[in-house]
Amino acid sequence: MNILILGGTGSIGSAVTAELVAAHHQVVGLCRSQASAKKLTALGARPVQGDLRAPKGWYDALQNADAVIQVACTFEDNMGAVDSLTIEAIGQEARRRRQPLRVLYTGGCWLYGETGDLIASETSARRPIPAFAWMEQNAGSLLEDPNLNCCVVHPAMVYHESGGGVFARMLQQASVGLPLEVWGSLHTRWPLVHRRDLARAYRMLIERPGLGGHYNVAAQSGVPVQEILTEIVTRHRHAAPMWCATANM
Ligand SMILES: NC(=O)c1ccc[n+]([C@@H]2O[C@H](COP(=O)([O-])OP(=O)(O)OC[C@H]3O[C@@H](n4cnc5c(N)ncnc54)[C@H](OP(=O)(O)O)[C@@H]3O)[C@@H](O)[C@H]2O)c1
Repeated sequence: MNILILGGTGSIGSAVTAELVAAHHQVVGLCRSQASAKKLTALGARPVQGDLRAPKGWYDALQNADAVIQVACTFEDNMGAVDSLTIEAIGQEARRRRQPLRVLYTGGCWLYGETGDLIASETSARRPIPAFAWMEQNAGSLLEDPNLNCCVVHPAMVYHESGGGVFARMLQQASVGLPLEVWGSLHTRWPLVHRRDLARAYRMLIERPGLGGHYNVAAQSGVPVQEILTEIVTRHRHAAPMWCATANM
């Protein structure tokens, strides 16, 4: 399958790219820098230069794709507006086709908001944290588009050994004896998934066009933040203040 991936160099996207290449798919990845182009090439994908903020620049790649995976995010103040440009480009391309365009869109566990003692399933109400309310809307508009064949993937908190992300940052802080930053409370519980397992879920979904709708991807549910931090500080014989709560989700 010819697959266009947006965000193929990111924490999640690089694992998805590697997984798709290993399964012999032809993967084209959007990149906005030489460094990202090199990373994609090393992963076995073909880089195409462009920026999420200017879809016209990568529309050709979209036209040539059998399927598209959106796992890119600018994480800037206007990230929702930038994402909407991608949604519009995908919709425009889909209207041109005879067959529905296969799309995997990335949501996230934070679209469920606080669930109290309940484990979120795909049928749970989603109450996105305010910063990501746009993501719920964009996911909904993709699912409603009759010209698309779409899955929305909701990753749990993703962990991996290195290369960015919240856990890599905590490990780095612990390794040099810095206090660990906690969002919210130590009693908050997070669902977790290793990015290789998550990547496998993306591949399985892209290969099964009969599947649509929302898919949560988690390997462990409800792990207390305190348990995660205790594991990190124990591994690093962390001597500095063990943690400090600095921000609320
Ligand atoms: N990580 C998690 O635990 C987690 C959990 C649930 C959901 N999610 C969601 O998954 C998505 C990806 O998260 P992530 O952790 O993988 O993020 P990340 O590591 O920061 O990766 C972001 C990706 O977006 C690309 N990108 C950013 N701005 C761009 C632009 N202007 N033009 C083109 N590409 C651009 C980056 O490319 P460059 O190579 O140019 O930087 C990179 O490939 C987000 O929507 C996030 O909300 C993440």
